[in-house]
Amino acid sequence: MQLNKPSSFKELSSNNYLFNEESAKLYGEYIDKTLNYIQQFLSQRKFYKGDNIDEIKKNKIKARLQHISQTHSIDNVLEELNELYIKNAVSFHNPNYVAHLNCPITLPSIVAELLATSINTAIETWDQSNVATFIEQEVIKWICSEYNFNESADGVFTSGGTQSNFMGLLLARDHYAYKNLGINIKQNGWSDDVSKFRIFCSEKSHFSIKKNAGLLGLGFDAVIPVKVDNTMRMDLFELALEIEKVKKEGNIPIAVVATLGTTDYGSFDPLEEITTLAKQNGMWLHVDGAYGGCFVLTETHNHYFKAIEKADSVTVDFHKTLFQPVSCSAFLVKDKQHLQYVSYYADYLNPLESKDEERPDLIEKSMQTTRRFDALKVWLTLKTLGTKTIASYLESVHFIIKNVYENVKLNNAFEIAHVPALSTLVFRYKHKDVLDDIVHNEINLHIKNTLYKSGKASVASTKLNGVTYLKFTLLNPKNTVENLLNIVKMIEKEGVAYESQLKTA
Ligand SMILES: Cc1ncc(COP(=O)(O)O)c(C=O)c1O
Repeated sequence: MQLNKPSSFKELSSNNYLFNEESAKLYGEYIDKTLNYIQQFLSQRKFYKGDNIDEIKKNKIKARLQHISQTHSIDNVLEELNELYIKNAVSFHNPNYVAHLNCPITLPSIVAELLATSINTAIETWDQSNVATFIEQEVIKWICSEYNFNESADGVFTSGGTQSNFMGLLLARDHYAYKNLGINIKQNGWSDDVSKFRIFCSEKSHFSIKKNAGLLGLGFDAVIPVKVDNTMRMDLFELALEIEKVKKEGNIPIAVVATLGTTDYGSFDPLEEITTLAKQNGMWLHVDGAYGGCFVLTETHNHYFKAIEKADSVTVDFHKTLFQPVSCSAFLVKDKQHLQYVSYYADYLNPLESKDEERPDLIEKSMQTTRRFDALKVWLTLKTLGTKTIASYLESVHFIIKNVYENVKLNNAFEIAHVPALSTLVFRYKHKDVLDDIVHNEINLHIKNTLYKSGKASVASTKLNGVTYLKFTLLNPKNTVENLLNIVKMIEKEGVAYESQLKTA
């Protein structure tokens, strides 16, 4: 029987938008055109052009996908995108952006992204990724060696700290259940005993610990927040008390999460002592080094990592402190056998009988199936910049924030919440004649929002004991003490102006 070609075949033969050898020239043209816009973005002077609600509403409408049954020239669409997205995008490399954990990114990492995206390697099975597998394994081996793990250690790239922490808690849960209760959660689901599992972390740990406990079916209440000392580090005495309390209640302590670099204060929990306590109680030790993990490369912070080789699992985010594009994180384990808790063998992909040590399938270690080749950008960054350059970036941001702290400390208009441990500074505008914290909260939120909307500066806010504070998060080594003190001046000016507005109201 003769099959008639569908009419869409005519359309297919008249264009070539797909990436292949025939479109190589067009690919180059697209890249050149895009480069133009990116260079314009880099020359933008403000971190953000500023906003108003009418424009935001218009942009929502402009973002609508209309007329998409037809083709449009890339020139027109790029121009449209320039107005809609590029000109409005927040630039994390701008020195007046000091809000969240977004870093400026290395040039080699962008080259690697272009390669990985264009070639589109999927890290799943050997037949899809071949040598890319070795590149990922080498990067994992490198970070494991920075943590003094031995040959038994292993790890995998993930989408971010939240996913890495999820894997840490999942392994802690399944390992405890299997080893101590003979329950195979992966195979059989769980029994009532699992609802008694408890996880300890500092009250300043990242919210993903609690969120993940919820997602893992343990519930938010399975996470026991442990009080911190006056340097925002987990208090060991309190940890010991909480563990005993949980046992007395008939519940089961299964894991401790030690944070190396808390999100707000950059504080490092006392790892060596926590390790001892965790081991004495037969608990899994997970280290959340999403923020602080790369500071192992520095002389200033390396000592905080003592005993990390005894941790059962570690989270480290390269898209925070290794200057990599989003997303780029790793999850490491001391004992590679423990990764079996996420393994699955699918007939069509990685059948158990085809397992081949020389041609590994990294899918065995991963929650994800199709996975980006994020390791390439770390590999290329390490090969070109070397670890000393990265260490110098990290030591610079710490040095700058400490200097800013010393200056702000002398200014009566501010109250500082902590001595900076890493590269954040939490402080608030506080007038000595105003006693009401509700008023201070309003002033500080006003300052943050006004600076953001004007495009002058982006600072974050957080809460300490229910009170609103402002936060600098510094990840840009090219920033300067002078520039940050200039932002402090803007904050003070906005604070004074709003305060007098409140008085006259
Ligand atoms: C200490 C810590 N852990 C985990 C995370 C979550 O990381 P991600 O945003 O990459 O999921 C963060 C994010 O700020 C963090 O600061």
